[in-house]
Amino acid sequence: MFAAVVFSRWKARGAMDWDIQVCTVDQRKPRPGDEELGFGQVFTDHMFIMNYDEDCGWHDPRIVPYGPMSFEPSVASFHYGQTIFEGMKAYGCPDGRALLFRPGDNARRLNATAERMCIPSLDEELFVNAVKKTVAVDRQWIPSAPGTSLYIRPFIIATEKYLGLKPSSSYKFIIIMSPVGAYHGRGLTPTRIYVETEYVRSVRGGTGEAKTGGNYAACLKAEARAAKMGYDQVLWLDGQQRQFVEEVGSMNVFFKIGDQVITPPLGGTILAGITRDSVIKILREWGVAVKQRRISIQELAEAHESGSLQEAFGTGTAAVITPIGQLHWDGLTMDINEGQTGELTSKVYDTLLGIQTGRIEDDFGWTVEVPVGAETSG
Ligand code: COI
Repeated sequence: MFAAVVFSRWKARGAMDWDIQVCTVDQRKPRPGDEELGFGQVFTDHMFIMNYDEDCGWHDPRIVPYGPMSFEPSVASFHYGQTIFEGMKAYGCPDGRALLFRPGDNARRLNATAERMCIPSLDEELFVNAVKKTVAVDRQWIPSAPGTSLYIRPFIIATEKYLGLKPSSSYKFIIIMSPVGAYHGRGLTPTRIYVETEYVRSVRGGTGEAKTGGNYAACLKAEARAAKMGYDQVLWLDGQQRQFVEEVGSMNVFFKIGDQVITPPLGGTILAGITRDSVIKILREWGVAVKQRRISIQELAEAHESGSLQEAFGTGTAAVITPIGQLHWDGLTMDINEGQTGELTSKVYDTLLGIQTGRIEDDFGWTVEVPVGAETSG
């Protein structure tokens, strides 16, 4: 209900002279209790929007009440999937600060995806400022219970009204936000994963490393089938030989085998996860040997058989650190660490979340504070 709105302008400090217009609701929606939070079901009071067209480039950044938007049925993103997105979170700290985690990396990755999908790039400083400002306006939506956060979904959609196949000439960059609990609904409880042998997610030269909608749509069929069989997610194998482990539906994947931690290498077919990169850096800081190398499902089965496959976990913004308690591959069921969360997995989870929520010293310089009082003034 927006009986009246409050307008203000906020200058995004930085190289570019962007003025973000702010139009706030006069009455906020009721917030769900922290204990009721699932993933991505309720949305905050406001959203950020910015337009692109060929004459003006990116322009008119604004924060407005969250709500329906209208588009003609002919717009390009409905037909050819020229849509890209990011996932990030704002965390509430015990001392009252709100922190973002490596937002500049999200800006860089969005631009890398934009480049792959023929979408004009965004000023990265503006991206970070837009996220900070939008979070600042809805700061009271950041939940505080352990394991909760404010999920931030920046995305770009093609908006040209045209059915021919070509890059759109107009776009919207939008940021929406949702207070969330655990992605799988069970916190640090181990998941059961089905190793997919029929369908593939990506191939070399394709869009596998891009955060574009089509990659996720392509996963749905296998994921729905796995869910019907009682599994939480699917582990994808490489598109050519169907031997090498790639990633899980919404996560990168790590295996502790003996005294090494192994994760598949970046090479264009898997997402360059920011959580993945953070975990590698944290483990190396602890002196753990981390190898980014190809690992076949056969090698995993042999490591399981010999008892050297000690732990497995997935990493992602939404999923944080998700322990894997079981892999099912071609009739073979591999219980990992007797289906329990491993010691290293727990330690990585606690450390990462500790840094993200300001409870552990951020020696890596990853966290960025959301300014207080940026809601209405410049
Ligand atoms: C994220 O982890 O933020 C993602 O974008 C994955 C999505 C399937 C929730």
